This record gives sequence, C-alpha cells and structure tokens, in this order.
Amino acid sequence: MPRLKPGDTPLSEEEDAAVAAGILADPDTIELDAEWFAGAQPAAQALPHIVEEYLRERENQTRERVHRNADGPHLPAQQLRDRVAGIGNSGGYPMANDPINLYDYEARAKLVLPHNNWEFIEAGSMDEFTTKRNRSAFEDLKLRPRFLRDVQERKISTTVLGQEISMPVMVAPAGSHMLAHPDGEVGTARGAGMSDTLMMLSTSSNYSMEEVSEAASGPLWFQLYHRGYSFTEMLVHRAEEAGFKAIVLTIDTPVASPKERDLRNRYKREHDLGNFRGMDADRSVISGTDETEGWDVSYAPPITWRELEWLRGLTSLPLVLKGVRTSEDAYEAVEHGVDGLLVSTHGGRQLDMTMGAIEMVPEVVEAARGRAEVYVDSGVRRGSDVIKALALGAKAVAIGRPLFWGLAIDGANGVHGVLELLREEVDRAMAFTGQSDVNALEPGVVQIPAGWGAFGGTTAP
Ligand SMILES: Cc1cc2nc3c(=O)[nH]c(=O)nc-3n(C[C@H](O)[C@H](O)[C@H](O)COP(=O)(O)O)c2cc1C
Repeated sequence: MPRLKPGDTPLSEEEDAAVAAGILADPDTIELDAEWFAGAQPAAQALPHIVEEYLRERENQTRERVHRNADGPHLPAQQLRDRVAGIGNSGGYPMANDPINLYDYEARAKLVLPHNNWEFIEAGSMDEFTTKRNRSAFEDLKLRPRFLRDVQERKISTTVLGQEISMPVMVAPAGSHMLAHPDGEVGTARGAGMSDTLMMLSTSSNYSMEEVSEAASGPLWFQLYHRGYSFTEMLVHRAEEAGFKAIVLTIDTPVASPKERDLRNRYKREHDLGNFRGMDADRSVISGTDETEGWDVSYAPPITWRELEWLRGLTSLPLVLKGVRTSEDAYEAVEHGVDGLLVSTHGGRQLDMTMGAIEMVPEVVEAARGRAEVYVDSGVRRGSDVIKALALGAKAVAIGRPLFWGLAIDGANGVHGVLELLREEVDRAMAFTGQSDVNALEPGVVQIPAGWGAFGGTTAP
C-alpha cells in the first residue's frame, strides 16, 4: 500500500527513500508532532506554525524540486528542519535528524545530487580497486588502546608548515565544487574556515583563486597542475598575490584518467573553470587540468624532476608534492627541497591497482627523515583513521569526497558539519587510546599488519 502524504497523494518512490534516509520528515510523524508540540511542550508553542509551513511546502513540492532542485540541492525541508533544530528542540524531535557520521552525509548526498554528478564524485578509475583498498587498508590497521591515564585535557590542534589549524584534518583539493552546490569552492572555504582548518584549492576550481581567497577565513594552499611553463608561472604568481600559503604540486596525473562510470554516463563538465574565466588560453592546456576533460593521452606536457627544480626556483612559497607513494620518490623530493609530501592515491581516481595510500605512509615517513612534513589523503572517513595516520608519522590528513557530501547537503554549513563530526571522533579516539596531544602520539597506538613496509620499494640510501 502506498504511504499517503497530506492531501492523500501517494509518496513517490524517491520521496519514500528520502523519508527513509531522514532527509524528509515523514508527513504522518509531522502531524503527530504538531499535536505533541501544541500540548505536551509549552516551550515549543511557537513551533506549530513552522510545522504547518512545512506541510504546505510539502503539499506543493514536486519530485523535481525535492530531488533535482533546479536552484541547487538545498531542500526546503532541510531549511525548515534546521530552523526547528535551531529553536533548541532537536532532542527527540524527529525532524531534527542530523547526520551522525560521514556515511550519513554520503547517503543523503546521493539522494539530492543529479545522478551523473554523484557518479563523477564517487568514481574511482577502472575497477576502483584502489578506491576500495584505501578504505580496507585503514580497516586493517588496528588501534591499541592505553588506559589508566588522565586524558581529561586533549590537544588536537596542530600546525602544517607553520600554519595553525584547529585539528589535523584538512580539505583536499578537488575540482568543480559547483557539482555539489552553487556556492562551490567559496562555500567549501567558508566551511573550512568555520572549522578553523586549511583548504587546498584545486587548479580546476569553479570559482577563481582570487574569489575563494576573498571569501576564506582560514589558510589556503593552491594545488597546481603543471601544464607547461608559462601556464604554471601565471598560476603560481596569482596564488602568491592572492595570499595562498603554499603550492601543492600534484604529480600523480602524468596523463588524464577517465572514469568508466563517466564514460558510460557520457559525462560532460557543466561549470566553467574559474581560474581561466575569460582567458584566451589554449583549450587543450586548460582542459588538461580537469578530470572531466582532456582524456586524450597524447596531450601530456612533461612533468619531471627538472620541472620540479624549476618550480622550486620560481616561488619562495613552501612546496608540497601530492601523490607521492614510494620511498624512492619521497627521498628524491626531499633532496629537491620540497617541504611537504602528501601521500595520496588521488582517491583511487588515477592509477588503479595500487596499495591504499595509508599503506605507503610508513616508507614515505622513513624516507623523509623529518626533513619534510608528511600528510595523507584517500579514504579518511573516521576520527580513528586520523589517529592511525598520525601514529604512523603523518602530520595531518585531508578529505576529498566527504567535502562534496557536506556541500551537497548544506553548503558551507555542510562542509563545517562534516569537519566537526571528524573533530569529535578524533577527540574521542584520543581519549580511548590514552593520548592527550596529537603532536605526540605514541607509535604503539597502532598495530601495523604483518607484511606492511615489506613491499616493493628500496629504502632511501
Ligand atoms: C571529484 C573529485 C575531484 C578531484 N579533483 C582533484 C584535483 O583537481 N586536483 C587534485 O590534486 N586532486 C583532486 N582530487 C583528489 C583529492 O584531492 C583527494 O586526493 C582524494 O579525493 C582523497 O580521497 P577521498 O576522496 O577518499 O577522501 C579530486 C577528487 C575528487 C573526488
């Protein structure tokens, strides 16, 4: 029997799914709650009009407006629920159904985003083995809790290249945030700023680096795709001018990597790349910066140690290499004066069939020998993942897809929400493992599986 909404119109399948996922409140429950508020809760007397407004909206809404909202993915129901929650009655009130972990954000983002955008964000390359391995490798690492210690006070703030951040979680660079929300990278920067942490802005952002810098209240690093000397020079100088604190050179994309999901969906980039707006640059250069285009393997300007040396001399900003995965490259990079190494599999979106990123952290840390900071992204979803990464020697982690999930659900507030969930989980994991400072985690907190570190690479000389 189809469930009924006010006016006796059956709920569509998608609406039903949205109710089940907690995005839409169940209309039956709302009616009950209206009575409950009016009677049992004197403090909530002001609320029934909101519930009525919700019901009116609910009557009017069409499948399009709810799930493929032309004005962006904001849901009228979400806004109303937030208002209700804001009055302070979230405890026990079914409309205030906030996400309690990152997977809740993921499930809801899937419901509100257009299918092809969702697939573009979630996809890994080829068999998506590495994307899955990023997660399973974190699961293979186990925590070793220590008790009987005073962990009342816990410090989770830290620094990255001298920059204070309130927790060891940063926002990884990713192109096209407008896929998830009209505020795009401006929304993400605001969300990261609200959480007092750092955002890395992609070369292929929809808003320009100047616009994002203007909106940001937290520190920013600029992620660079090298597509030739003059192109890089232009971007690096603009990033310096706009106040970015470091350059993050992505090295794991010698050629572009089409995702098979996108090929099947005939996915096409919808939004312009903000850094090149109105610019008459060679189309093949610009599209080569974007994961959605430039799939022609023949267009691949070289990026080698020579280009790295040149870049080192081009800017006095600190330099981070993103995508390092072996002790050999880590050692060489440090010799070239690199300041930070971001161990990453690009979320499994480039070369498939590799180890998960976290598995490569020990050998990169060893090769860096304290001469460069080490960070890791790819598969970080829980506070315990952050503790594991830090116990292996990373200074901080970064999240990629989860920022899109937060953005899709509630713009800047959603990004902030995702980061705050992680903050709470990091803090709790610290207490449970008997740790009181993220900068002084005991390595023994994590049990490294047998065989880790024994693969492939030679250790640095
Ligand atoms: C939709 C999307 C776009 C991305 N675009 C870029 C990019 O422009 N530059 C870059 O260096 N990495 C890019 N990445 C990779 C992220 O920086 C990061 O390495 C990855 O998302 C981390 O894995 P996670 O998604 O499992 O957290 C992108 C990732 C996603 C999901």
